[in-house]
Amino acid sequence: MANNSLTVTDNRTGKTYELPITDGAIRAMELRQIKASPEDFGLMTYDPGFSNTACCRSAITFIDGDKGILRYRGYPIEQLAEKCSFLEVAYLLCEGELPNRAQLEAWEVKVRFHTYVHTNITKFLEGFRYNAHPMGMLLGVVGALSTFYPDAKNISDPANRYLQRVRLLAKAPTIAAFAFRHSRGLPFVFPDNDLDYIGNFVNMTFSIGGRHKPNKVLQRALEILLILHADHEQNCSTSAVRAVGSSHVDPFSAISAGIAALYGPLHGGANEAVLLMLDEIGDKKNIPRFIEEVKAGRGRLMGFGHRVYKSYDPRAKLIKKVADEVFAETGLNPKLEIALELERIALEDEYFIKRKLYPNVDFYSGLIYQAMGYPTEYFTVLFALGRMPGWLAQWEEMLLDKDQKIARPRQIFTGRDERPFVPIERR
Ligand code: ACO
Repeated sequence: MANNSLTVTDNRTGKTYELPITDGAIRAMELRQIKASPEDFGLMTYDPGFSNTACCRSAITFIDGDKGILRYRGYPIEQLAEKCSFLEVAYLLCEGELPNRAQLEAWEVKVRFHTYVHTNITKFLEGFRYNAHPMGMLLGVVGALSTFYPDAKNISDPANRYLQRVRLLAKAPTIAAFAFRHSRGLPFVFPDNDLDYIGNFVNMTFSIGGRHKPNKVLQRALEILLILHADHEQNCSTSAVRAVGSSHVDPFSAISAGIAALYGPLHGGANEAVLLMLDEIGDKKNIPRFIEEVKAGRGRLMGFGHRVYKSYDPRAKLIKKVADEVFAETGLNPKLEIALELERIALEDEYFIKRKLYPNVDFYSGLIYQAMGYPTEYFTVLFALGRMPGWLAQWEEMLLDKDQKIARPRQIFTGRDERPFVPIERR
């Protein structure tokens, strides 16, 4: 009997099966041979939320949730956040290696060349209501880009995929900035390609009557936040990109599915939810009552807890440092005081300790974004800009993986057995 295998006995039949173990996993399809009778479909696994199911082999991002480790392509997030530009990290994620100077310059020029969008895009945006949520606008417009680039359907050509990756990275800030300005009734500012990636985005969002005067500390803080969000292996939105992309649709459509997934309050919407929660709490004196409500199961402490990190979220540690730098520039956000106290109380509370609930990346990011001048509903858009390279790298990896097929999970049917149709007048 091979060492690297699992022996399973089916007590319904008394039969024993040996299933190979590779990379700490068995192939779920190996279970199909286990049948109670010849007509039986075969054994399946039941894993809602995919808590213990690996859906791919990936070389992009490594996380050890118990130790609080996050690495992109082998490099610790702490070092990347300290030393790299966002486009450098995007190159690393998408191309697999850190660029040398010439490669980085060429990459920056390429991305810069594609920042413009067709002016018809502005007409879409004008069609949105004045109070449309910017994530709704972003997901709609990114999806619509597929109609501008029908060539993107040719996903079997590596050069074509590369071009679409560059387009998505380059145009996402432009669309995001347009969505920001639409909400405020401001005219759109087109890209200024003398500026770098972050500077250009900040200028497109904030400039009024001339180029925006950059604040280097805030721009670097924004860049670090985007780097911290750039990939997080098989999270909800990345899984959405992979699942939708597995139908071989164009990347604009697949990425818009990722944006849609990120929009939800349990995923990218969490930083927005944190700010709403802090508003609701309103004052430090209300924290104990709020915590009791959470513990009684009436609501969650937003920005706490993570499916993977069960000791601490390394991104949250880095973000706290960024927060200090930003607040030194902008002055203290009064909500920060509530957040710090909330964190202190929760970290000492048995309920949170027992469940290994710690601040996640979103606990402080919203406060920083607010200090930078972004409205609450815009936070998730900033997350989407950060996550773009991760989605693109994962999409590429999925397409090149010979093991991948169209995503099509199984179900356990719990509905009614066949029954005769009842005409409407007898129902
Ligand atoms: N506040 C209070 N209780 C919580 C919280 C929370 N934030 N998170 C988890 N719990 C409790 C659950 O009620 C559950 O308790 P129980 O065992 O008594 O039923 C236990 O902790 C385990 O929770 P699960 O929901 O099983 O944990 P899961 O891994 O499925 O969820 C999630 C992870 C969705 C992030 C969750 O912790 C949560 O909802 N957090 C708040 C939202 C949030 O901050 N999301 C951002 C995540 S980071 C990101 O997406 C970038």
